[in-house]
Amino acid sequence: MSNDSDSREYVIDVHELNKHFGDKHVVNNVSLRVARGQIFGFLGPNGSGKTTCIRLMCGLLTPDSGTGTCLGYDIRRDSAQIKRNVGYMTQRFSYWEDLTIRENLDFVARIYQMRNRRETVDKSLEALGLQSRANQMTGSLSGGWKQRLALAACMLHEPRLLLLDEPTAGVDPTARRDFWEELHRLAARGISVLVSTHYMDEAERCHKLAYIAYGKLLAQGTSKEVIESQDLATWSIQGEHLSELSEKLRATPGVDQTVVFGAALHASGRDHAALERAIRQATAGTTLRMEPIETGLEDVFIYLMSHSKDNFGAQT
Ligand SMILES: Nc1ncnc2c1ncn2[C@@H]1O[C@H](COP(=O)(O)OP(=O)(O)OP(=O)(O)O)[C@@H](O)[C@H]1O
Ligand SMILES: [Mg+2]
Repeated sequence: MSNDSDSREYVIDVHELNKHFGDKHVVNNVSLRVARGQIFGFLGPNGSGKTTCIRLMCGLLTPDSGTGTCLGYDIRRDSAQIKRNVGYMTQRFSYWEDLTIRENLDFVARIYQMRNRRETVDKSLEALGLQSRANQMTGSLSGGWKQRLALAACMLHEPRLLLLDEPTAGVDPTARRDFWEELHRLAARGISVLVSTHYMDEAERCHKLAYIAYGKLLAQGTSKEVIESQDLATWSIQGEHLSELSEKLRATPGVDQTVVFGAALHASGRDHAALERAIRQATAGTTLRMEPIETGLEDVFIYLMSHSKDNFGAQT
């Protein structure tokens, strides 16, 4: 392990960031590190402060307090350098619908005052498989192609770090899979990625994850570390009348959470022995099938979200 204080190892290294909007504490003491070449997933419910954190980290917003670097540049002082070296894909699609793909990319190349614009745009069209649609009006593209254009545009100036804010929201599963394959290709070339998402399958494709709720970072690490951090035991129960069972279990000590996953009910709890007792009691004399299973990322995220509400109160 490298020296912890060596920020060159980290493309993002921020400490105790705080941001208020009015009297709302939107980012609350957030510290976070992203290593070079890593795909870092940023998860949390709506309004939890993901976008605001991203904007703080790339110097678009100034924190009320806290310090940090992005690509070694100070997030408070060096926002111009950060912008030159970071590709930021905003949460909402922000290209011209009445320009073609090529025209949109050319427009971005002009903003960055790039030389060899034609060549750069051609290269980018090719890299992301957009040539066949280069002259198509952007407004007529499907969600997946729009996201591909947005990625091409934020890669045009060859950034070393990508900040992607829900890049695949509303995109179909095949296009999402292609998009993630592209992200892994970029990471293999040493480009670091911080990506916010609400999709569990995407979370599992990240090297590291952070979960934020109500402005507070509640867990950070690999998927395995995040799961282990909450020390939840989980049982899966299958059979009839699961929603009744769910309600019954929820009112039983030892059961901290129940969630229906397709044909199975997951019941989780921190007190492993009490959870098992509760489940055996509730299912005694029935034909229900139950077994202990490994707690999944989704179980943990649901737990973190409800747990954070209990602790901090809903403050959306
Ligand atoms: N410019 C602003 N002025 C006032 N309040 C803001 C501003 N930007 C964000 N907020 C508030 O800050 C909180 C966090 O918002 P943010 O957009 O960072 O959350 P998010 O995690 O990105 O949510 P989502 O998943 O919906 O994108 C919300 O309550 C939001 O209403
Ligand atoms: Mg957001």
